[in-house]
Amino acid sequence: MTEDTLIPEVTAAPSPRERARIALSTARRRTLALADCLSDAELIAQHSSLMSPLVWDLAHIANQEDIWLVRRVGSRPAVRPDLDDLYDAFRHPRADRPALPLLDPVRARRYLAVTRDQALDVLAALPPGDGFVFGMVAQHEQQHDETMLATHQLRAGCPVLSAPAPPRASAAERLPREVLVPGGPFTMGTSTDPWALDNERPAHAVDVPAFWLDTVPVTNAAYEEFIADGGYDDPRWWTPGGWEHRRSAELAAPGFWFRDGGPAWLRRRFGQVEEVPADEPVLHVCWYEADAYARWAGRRLPTEAEWEKAARHDPATGESRRHPWGDTPPGPEHANLGQHHLQPAPAGSYPEGAAPCGARQLLGDVWEWTASDFQPYPGFAAHPYREYSEVFFGSSHKVLRGGSFGTDPVACRGTFRNWDRPIRRQIFCGFRTCRTAEEAR
Ligand code: AVJ
Ligand code: FE
Repeated sequence: MTEDTLIPEVTAAPSPRERARIALSTARRRTLALADCLSDAELIAQHSSLMSPLVWDLAHIANQEDIWLVRRVGSRPAVRPDLDDLYDAFRHPRADRPALPLLDPVRARRYLAVTRDQALDVLAALPPGDGFVFGMVAQHEQQHDETMLATHQLRAGCPVLSAPAPPRASAAERLPREVLVPGGPFTMGTSTDPWALDNERPAHAVDVPAFWLDTVPVTNAAYEEFIADGGYDDPRWWTPGGWEHRRSAELAAPGFWFRDGGPAWLRRRFGQVEEVPADEPVLHVCWYEADAYARWAGRRLPTEAEWEKAARHDPATGESRRHPWGDTPPGPEHANLGQHHLQPAPAGSYPEGAAPCGARQLLGDVWEWTASDFQPYPGFAAHPYREYSEVFFGSSHKVLRGGSFGTDPVACRGTFRNWDRPIRRQIFCGFRTCRTAEEAR
């Protein structure tokens, strides 16, 4: 009998080994569910030139596990050494992937299963440790699952995914428009969170002057005002690069929005057409649109440090928390994470997930664009996988924070950093705005 059969699926404090096993199997259930609802033809098809065929994601997930767990941690021979080039994201841009001699869906699923068996053997034989590389691989799979979910959103045709609507906060409550985050230093990043990825490290002090932050993400109703006020036609609100992109891409509304003769905006969400819900956080806007909206509103996007201070700093102790509500793991009462719902919850939901400053929905619902370029923290060291973060540092990617309804909790925390190009909006992204507090001037 192995250790695994003796330990129940969920214990109060699972061992690192058990935590790794649960994280891997949770990710795998999601991966297979996202694939099994589509035909082989739909798995092989490219639904958007921005995305891989889903069958590429499947074998790429297996290949990363083959590289990092079977070979690197386990020192075993590769399951499929011949596939490293085919599934190397840097060798083949997404648009080229459909033309590659990819494994078919049956073979891709077999590669996943065989690699997983070996990885679990490696895990069982491992001396006790923090299981970091297993955590990294589980997070990698979950990140691809969110990417696969974005591919589902881009796919045309009948809906294949469904989920209940998220819970609604009590209607009686009126929240202030903005909350004050007091000035002073706070601890950004982490040196102790065992599964924090290289770009979240190390912990370091950052002095953040006082600022006022939107209590909730910018809603569809607020964003519609920007559209109705001609925000897309006025270069005053846009940076030069943003204006250039807004013209060449002919941006006029968030992604997946359209009008059907009438005055109301409609949207397509996982194959269903519905009226744009007024009180939901806006989704599928690029950084340039978020930045233009903020300028139109007389405000600005928060820097990454401001966002993290609002989400983590506890003025009562001076410490940074793992999550806005504290160090307890995310539950359904805290945040809209984990693809339990297929849309953001109305702005103002999740009172139990509020940060000490009073801001809500910092984790879950929508990824939030920040003003900041993706740069290393002082003392950054690539670990163990240079192509995860290091090759993306610089001025061509903007940081997003907080995760979306499609982000699994294992890949979401107050320190987690996501990034994308400022023109991208197929991910589940929105934003909130802020302004510097007078007293800090
Ligand atoms: C962190 C979401 C930007 O999808 O490009 C997946 C995650 N890195 N495989 C991405 C990732 C390698 C990455 N993001
Ligand atoms: Fe990847």
